[in-house]
Amino acid sequence: MASCSRSTHPVPRHYSFGLWLTSILLFTAATTPTTKGCVEGEKDSLLDFKTGIVKDPSSRLSSWRGRVDCCRWSGVVCDNRTGHVVELNLQNSDPDNDEMSIGGEIRPSLLLLTHLERLDLSNNDFGGIQIPEFFGSLTKLTYLDLNGSYFGGAIPPQLGNLSRLRYLDLNSLHDLTIDGLHWLSRLSSLRYLYMGGVNLSVASHDWLQAVNMLSSLEGLHLHDCGLTDIPSSLSHVNLTALATLDISDNLFNSTIPNWLWKLHRLSYLDLSFSMFHGAIPAGIGNLADLRELHLSDNSLSGPVPTEIGILNSLELINLTNNLLSGSLPTEIGNLSNLNILSLSSNSLDGTVSELHFARLTKLSELDLSENSLVISVDYNWVPTFQLQSIQLKSCKLGPAFPRWLRSQNSIEDLDLSNTSIEDVLPDWFWNISAFSINLSQNQINGTLPTFLEQMTNLATLKLSINLLEGPIPRLPPYLRYLYLYNNSFSGSLSSISLPLELELLDLSHNHISGNITSFICNLTQLRILDLSSNQISGEIPWCWQETNIIIYINLADNKLSGEIPSSIEKLTQLRSLHLNNNSLHGHLPPSLKHCSGLVFLDLGDNKFSGSIPTWIAQNFQKLEVLRLCSNMFFGNIPTELGQLHHLHIIDLANNNLSGPIPRSFGNLNATKIYRQRKLTSQYNRLTAQYISYAALNVGRPFRSLNFDGTYDDSITLTIKGNSLIFSIIVYLVNIIDFSNNNLTGEIPVEIGSLSTFQTLNLSRNNFVGQIPATIGGMKSLETLDLSFNKLSGGIPQSLSDLYSLNHLNLSYNNLSGVIPSGNQLQTLNDSSIYIGNAYLCGAPLTKSCYDLKSNNVTKEDNKDESFTPSYYLSIILGYLVGLWSVFIIMLFKKNWRVFYFQMFDKIYDRAYVVIKIRINRLTTD
Ligand SMILES: *[C@@H]1O[C@H](CO)[C@@H](O)[C@H](O)[C@H]1NC(C)=O
Ligand SMILES: *[C@@H]1O[C@H](CO)[C@@H](O)[C@H](O)[C@H]1NC(C)=O
Ligand SMILES: *[C@@H]1O[C@H](CO)[C@@H](O)[C@H](O)[C@H]1NC(C)=O
Ligand SMILES: *[C@@H]1O[C@H](CO)[C@@H](O)[C@H](O)[C@H]1NC(C)=O
Ligand SMILES: *[C@@H]1O[C@H](CO)[C@@H](O)[C@H](O)[C@H]1NC(C)=O
Ligand SMILES: *[C@@H]1O[C@H](CO)[C@@H](O)[C@H](O)[C@H]1NC(C)=O
Ligand SMILES: *[C@@H]1O[C@H](CO)[C@@H](O)[C@H](O)[C@H]1NC(C)=O
Repeated sequence: MASCSRSTHPVPRHYSFGLWLTSILLFTAATTPTTKGCVEGEKDSLLDFKTGIVKDPSSRLSSWRGRVDCCRWSGVVCDNRTGHVVELNLQNSDPDNDEMSIGGEIRPSLLLLTHLERLDLSNNDFGGIQIPEFFGSLTKLTYLDLNGSYFGGAIPPQLGNLSRLRYLDLNSLHDLTIDGLHWLSRLSSLRYLYMGGVNLSVASHDWLQAVNMLSSLEGLHLHDCGLTDIPSSLSHVNLTALATLDISDNLFNSTIPNWLWKLHRLSYLDLSFSMFHGAIPAGIGNLADLRELHLSDNSLSGPVPTEIGILNSLELINLTNNLLSGSLPTEIGNLSNLNILSLSSNSLDGTVSELHFARLTKLSELDLSENSLVISVDYNWVPTFQLQSIQLKSCKLGPAFPRWLRSQNSIEDLDLSNTSIEDVLPDWFWNISAFSINLSQNQINGTLPTFLEQMTNLATLKLSINLLEGPIPRLPPYLRYLYLYNNSFSGSLSSISLPLELELLDLSHNHISGNITSFICNLTQLRILDLSSNQISGEIPWCWQETNIIIYINLADNKLSGEIPSSIEKLTQLRSLHLNNNSLHGHLPPSLKHCSGLVFLDLGDNKFSGSIPTWIAQNFQKLEVLRLCSNMFFGNIPTELGQLHHLHIIDLANNNLSGPIPRSFGNLNATKIYRQRKLTSQYNRLTAQYISYAALNVGRPFRSLNFDGTYDDSITLTIKGNSLIFSIIVYLVNIIDFSNNNLTGEIPVEIGSLSTFQTLNLSRNNFVGQIPATIGGMKSLETLDLSFNKLSGGIPQSLSDLYSLNHLNLSYNNLSGVIPSGNQLQTLNDSSIYIGNAYLCGAPLTKSCYDLKSNNVTKEDNKDESFTPSYYLSIILGYLVGLWSVFIIMLFKKNWRVFYFQMFDKIYDRAYVVIKIRINRLTTD
């Protein structure tokens, strides 16, 4: 048995205990009672116990003093007839406050409390010491609570001697280990067992056998125990008294076992997040007392069984995040006690009508989002329930705005995004008292009412991707998150009254004009500001203060003029700065240096001038994206840029830069720049999945604050001659674009170490010398453009080893000799790749090299075939290699593109949710 590094000094127990006991007994006999009530020997035992508690920062045991009746000490309860101590309650009632927790050694003096029935040491900090074996000798004990008190090491099997124990709580003791659970089956009086978070994986095969001996058990909590096995049948189910069963967050890769339905007293069942698959058994109808059914986050498939309608006591059904299909049984409408119904993120289809809600008078939370359900109720339907939370995202409700909402006076949270509503919002809607409203991604038209400011509860308003127009009226006073992007709002920005508590303002892609007012600087809670793609003019405000905590500024695609204000130095938390496509000018101000957390800097398509300052490299250690293209920068590319180890998008095209490419660029190897960097290795598999879904999601329109508080950055890049907008997958794009400058010298051989870069564009410069053979090291290269330079010599054979290369341009140089063939180059058989090099010969050029044997270049023209479905399919399968090919194809085929994104949007959202849950659990544990 490995010793636990955290355990305290071992005490030679056999020696000290005996000696100590004798001395206590002698001591007790010699003293006279000082107070009534407390039994003297027990007081001394408690005082000795106290000496073991060396950690008690808030002096919780200060009342434990010799002259006071020990029955009056805090946490000590005596029998009022005999004076014996029957209960020791040293629970820390404020678990988040470490100051309140006690710790140290638990001395065997406790054994003298021979009448002790209840012992509660929960939420303290015993520093990982073992649960004392002598607890097994406290034979009168009925209640033992060690929840979250940081015991470690092996659970002593002696605990099995506590035959009177009714309540055992070992929850959240993550450092405990077990050899087996045989001791458990001897606790014949046990009613409640809590072992959530204890690693029971070694007992995976027989945990149920041990538990099944506990015929008095009423509550069993074994969530997050690493259990992998659950028997599909049990010959005899002993657990007839079981009312609560929580075995969620385990690793059962199994169907739901049928013996569960023999637990006739069951009222709370939690099997969520435990890898269950297969159908929900019809046998579920045998539980008549069931009140809460938690089956979320599994892979359950098939229909929702109609038998669920028999469970008349049900108050909560959570089937979120499964693979359930078919239509929703109308029997669900019989559940007159149902309070919460959550079926989101499944594959349910068909129609939901009034019948499904017929008797649901107590329903308060309804979540049907992310299914293919059509909600079709009579226009004049008045439901019998009053909902607080309505989540119908991606159901079909429209085209008319649902009138039944008018009867709902208690709504707090409403999500009707992407529900096919094509209507104006009725005036009565704005009487809603909700704190969160999401109506994004519909075709809602008309204007916003002037009395919006009366909505004093509203904190989140999402109306993005609709057809709303007109000015933005006075906003609700306590609004914190405002998403109005992709509408047709107009009017002047300066006339919008922005609530002072605003944290996120996204007005991008509208027709808003006017100057940016300095009022923006007064929003001290603002973290995300996106005003991009409007007609905003004037200068960026000069008023930023230390109190501004903004992390994301996007003012791209507007008509801004002037320079970057020096007060930008106050924005020390700034992560993303998008100012591209405006008419800004001037040098990059040295004050920008202070924004040392910058990750994303896009100043492209402006009139900036001067040289690229070296402090960019020295101060922006976290920089991942640097886009300065289409400005008037001149001078050299600073060598220091090569030291930015996170830099993976460098676009300096269309400037007047001169000099060579610094050799230091070989150091840029932007490997694995993933947004989910913080995830621990145990979730790597999930992460990889998430990334591959996200990778396909180039044009995903839905934006929301990410769970780490960041907002998605998007960037326009020219790849293969096309301007493409990348949003979610920006972190996967690795590109160097220095095209159209006056750069000179040779292409450094160090370029070969950039094995993660997919695009290298050095065209339209004055590079000389040979193409370095090391270029074969750029294994991820998909686009290589070296055209319009003065490169000479032969084309290196290593080019043919770049298996991802699908766009090559070497035209208009002084290259000479035989064009290499074979491997990847064989597929690039377009003569325009090599045109303008007088001394090149061989296929695909018509000019043959006389000493070259004709090789087997096939002349098949694949162009038409390339648009067949199977071609698309092969591209999907190979997308990780040929990611860019997918994008290009999507540029051509609109229908296909739409389908593709819809499909992956859904998968992405799921992966996101799963990860989010995992992260929440990680951070709360
Ligand atoms: C002793 O305690 C019990 C339970 O707390 C209580 O019901 C009873 O009244 C008490 N008796 C006296 C004499 O205080
Ligand atoms: C049922 O419980 C009793 C009493 O604990 C035990 O003796 C018996 O073996 C248990 N039966 C099964 C099938 O586990
Ligand atoms: C689940 O079990 C199936 C066989 O029943 C197996 O193919 C699959 O790999 C298992 N999955 C995991 C994650 O263990
Ligand atoms: C239902 O399950 C989902 C997924 O685990 C969870 O996010 C949600 O909070 C649950 N809802 C209720 C009411 O328990
Ligand atoms: C909203 O759109 C509908 C259908 O396109 C149209 O009939 C109606 O006039 C529009 N209403 C407003 C206020 O723009
Ligand atoms: C910003 O707040 C200051 C006081 O904190 C106030 O004097 C100023 O007028 C405000 N600016 C705007 C544009 O409202
Ligand atoms: C907008 O700003 C520009 C320069 O910052 C200024 O000249 C102009 O007067 C402003 N316009 C309005 C309407 O405030």
